[in-house]
Amino acid sequence: RNLLNTELRGEQVIVVSNREPYIHTHKDDKVVVSRPASGLVTAIEPVMRACSGTWIAHGSGDADRETVDRHDHVQVPPDDPSYTLRRIWLSEDEEQGYYYGFANEGMWPLCHLAHTRPVFRLSDWEFYRKVNQRFADAVVAEARTEDPVVLIQDYHFALLPAMLREKLPNATIITFWHIPWPNPESFGVCPWHQEILRGMLGSSILGFHTRFHCRNFLESVDRFMEARIRLEESTITFDGELTQVKNYPISIHWPDAEEAASWPAIDTCRSALRKRLGVPEDHLVAVGVDRFDYTKGIIERFNAVDRLISKYPELRGRFTFAQFAAPTRSALDEYQLFVHQAVALAERINKRHGRDGWQPIQLIAENQNAEEVNSHYRGADACVVTSLHDGMNLVAKEFVAARDDLRGALVLSEFTGAARELEAALIVNPYDVEVTADAIYKALTMSREEQAARMRSLRAIVSEDNIYRWAANMLLDAARMRRTERISARIV
Ligand code: G6P
Repeated sequence: RNLLNTELRGEQVIVVSNREPYIHTHKDDKVVVSRPASGLVTAIEPVMRACSGTWIAHGSGDADRETVDRHDHVQVPPDDPSYTLRRIWLSEDEEQGYYYGFANEGMWPLCHLAHTRPVFRLSDWEFYRKVNQRFADAVVAEARTEDPVVLIQDYHFALLPAMLREKLPNATIITFWHIPWPNPESFGVCPWHQEILRGMLGSSILGFHTRFHCRNFLESVDRFMEARIRLEESTITFDGELTQVKNYPISIHWPDAEEAASWPAIDTCRSALRKRLGVPEDHLVAVGVDRFDYTKGIIERFNAVDRLISKYPELRGRFTFAQFAAPTRSALDEYQLFVHQAVALAERINKRHGRDGWQPIQLIAENQNAEEVNSHYRGADACVVTSLHDGMNLVAKEFVAARDDLRGALVLSEFTGAARELEAALIVNPYDVEVTADAIYKALTMSREEQAARMRSLRAIVSEDNIYRWAANMLLDAARMRRTERISARIV
């Protein structure tokens, strides 16, 4: 945190993301403020608190939008105002085309290899471009200097970097892509692949979670653009501008001792979870905690539980898999279909194995707040993450942070960015039902000593490479770049 304060002293930092960190809505006569379920918000908020910047996001609540003197700016967090949130209010058509359409029916499946076909509609693309331009105009309006540091988040804003570069040629533009970047063959199916690459190459620094995604991006540029690429330095020069492509694995806020001491005791969490599931105190419980998204491998996970119960019948009546799935992007057909399939599969599996009121899977399709999730992690014997493809996956890291008792085991898909760091987890290919079922069994039956050894190693990594380090690494690179540019400007 100190590093951030030193490096950013006097600099203006502007963050752009689709999702707002605080949503203001009306309830009765009051304005209530809530936080969305998003790893991205968890990741960026500490940076904004540290540097009192401006965060520009899509205004998704109805409160301030509907007041007579509608206001765009608000100070947040509500209990400790430390930075400015500026909302961009989108029309229904804009939200439909830009967010649901191009971003979530196009870019999301394009970048995740989850075998869901992307949908590309010209009208969505036009709205995407228009909304990117609206955000670019807002950044320009917020800029107090000609060279702010702008942090652009995610696949909603692939065109924004170049739009900004045109208006603020001296800005340091850091774009962080929170989802995977596919190989050139997969990426090339997007009809506007060149425009997207051109847009992203307006960035000074382009960040991905893993080196693998950086490499895919460099190869995509190599395949489709007339650009100079230096592989050894991981830089691209396009249109006279230099972009540094680098991996910055995102992480979580690591709780300090005081914070961890305020959590309910492990025994309390174990009882609460078992009570919630309606199972006895000595029951084995594994949890899954995800947005209800087809990239998360929830169907594969259920199939693994199915196989687990058949293969290890001693678990019958003694084990429950609790899947907490937060509703997400529910307006889209693909998501509705997926929820339907997952629910039907859980019912079939429960019917096959269930007896005397016991069922192997409990699917709880509800939002859980951060305290509840933390309590589920602490109460579980194992946490299962089986994403088919995932930029990082912060659930894996949150589970590790929650287990200060050094108990519990993590089953983790090899197709997550997190698997590159968390080698002491039980790493699985979620498409391999047998291996995944065996890993869950191992997680449930692992000795205390092995749990502790693995958890100690996982905790050492996550506590060290925490969210502050993620932000600091990016901002330090940006600061270095600014210093070099200022020096060369003086020399010229
Ligand atoms: C992923 C994306 C984020 C997004 C989050 C929640 O983590 O990388 O950009 O905010 O999912 O999705 P939503 O569509 O609800 O913002």
